[in-house]
Amino acid sequence: SWTTGNVIEEQVAAIREQVGDKRAICGLSGGVDSAVAAALVQKAIGSQLTCVYVDHGLMRKGETEQVEKDFVAATGVQLKVVDAEERFLKALAGVSDPEEKRKIIGREFIRVFEQAQAEIIADEGPAVEFLVQGTLYPDVVESGGGTGTANIKSHHNVGGLPEDLEFQLIEPLRKLFKDEVRMVGQELGLPEEIVQRQPFPGPGLGIRIVGEVTKDRLDLLREADAIAREELTAAGLDRDIWQCPVVLLADVRSVGVQGDGRTYGHPIVLRPVSSEDAMTADWSRLPYDVLAKISTRITNEVRDVNRVVLDVTSKPPGTIEWE
Ligand code: XMP
Repeated sequence: SWTTGNVIEEQVAAIREQVGDKRAICGLSGGVDSAVAAALVQKAIGSQLTCVYVDHGLMRKGETEQVEKDFVAATGVQLKVVDAEERFLKALAGVSDPEEKRKIIGREFIRVFEQAQAEIIADEGPAVEFLVQGTLYPDVVESGGGTGTANIKSHHNVGGLPEDLEFQLIEPLRKLFKDEVRMVGQELGLPEEIVQRQPFPGPGLGIRIVGEVTKDRLDLLREADAIAREELTAAGLDRDIWQCPVVLLADVRSVGVQGDGRTYGHPIVLRPVSSEDAMTADWSRLPYDVLAKISTRITNEVRDVNRVVLDVTSKPPGTIEWE
């Protein structure tokens, strides 16, 4: 019968057999899937696994620390953290167009990740043959069930990598649904904050600032987002909503009055949604007192923000994210 214990035991045995005395690499995103996949492989092959985490500076408050400290503490995994904030901010400077931002973030991410990979391979030698991916069952079905190897194009690598390196894939979550992945993660002792994490886009807060992305604006949005998350958690609403993007309208200003003065600040948008699969979504009917608390705290505690607005658009026609 299906138990998380059985799944873990089976996968650990299979991974040991597959990898033998070779080495594996896994990219961590801060999300549930890559974390659980990494923890399973770590359990199977220990220090033969190296994880890579690219900090693009677009994460929410505390998220990088969760990976760096809590995930490592829970698993004992060998982790290479690449601090690439400056590089991403430089690449994003002056860019406001959403698609352009996404392209830049995606491109820089691949470059940084591949460079880290090349460095690991240069250190460890040719025994690095496996790449761990957190592919879930729904992903397998959607993509037609293909499996096997990944070609890592290395044209922009700094050296150390062969022209066109082939990794064999380890995909220990291929038979699991999301809720099962969370159960396995829990059984493996991962922190609750990682196991129960709501979806968060790869481009991070970079696509939650309408306008140019700057360090200053990111810091401001991080504060507002942390307050919203804190209050939603305190109200026990985390399981009721699918996710709640918090968006900074950096190109918009409105007049306000705070203390005894006129202000001219930015609005923050709350975008709480309920959904089954993110393909469609409805705006969440959050309790007014929770919304009031979030609004009061954000306008009181976050500088340059003098207005909080609620997005009451379904998907379609709105997407969940604003960019
Ligand atoms: P939209 O905005 O298209 O979002 O309604 C649907 C779901 O996908 C997430 N999302 C992303 N996830 N990389 C990701 O890993 C991305 O580039 C990305 N863009 C959107 C979004 O948070 C929502 O859950």
